[in-house]
Amino acid sequence: MGVCSGGLLTLIGAGTVYPIFRFLSPLSVDSHGAKVAISLENLPEGEAKFFEFQGRAAVLIKRKNGNLSLLSAVCTHLGCIVKWEKEKEEFLCPCHGGRFSPDGTVLGGPPPKPLEQLPFVVKDGSVNVG
Ligand code: FES
Repeated sequence: MGVCSGGLLTLIGAGTVYPIFRFLSPLSVDSHGAKVAISLENLPEGEAKFFEFQGRAAVLIKRKNGNLSLLSAVCTHLGCIVKWEKEKEEFLCPCHGGRFSPDGTVLGGPPPKPLEQLPFVVKDGSVNVG
């Protein structure tokens, strides 16, 4: 009975940890961060994936309508890293309250210009940057 319970707990633990691991590790980055490939398989609609690209914070969003946006995550006001607010489908800068749309357009607050859009290509179920 003890062996059976231990095996069951191991299966439950693995079933819980594996999806978290897969969600957190779909990136492949070369040694300089010059090229990044992000699997779309583990990015649900409405979610954002933050990553580092060429030494800067970047973010990929898969909108609820399925469209993709790839942006610099560096606020254009004073350089804080923006946060994704899934329910509102917009970015909020935690430093001074700047707000951006999913395509980077300024919606409010002090940022003087939009978030920088980054070029990308979708190939074989992955977003390739760089
Ligand atoms: S740094 Fe983002 S609003 Fe000031």
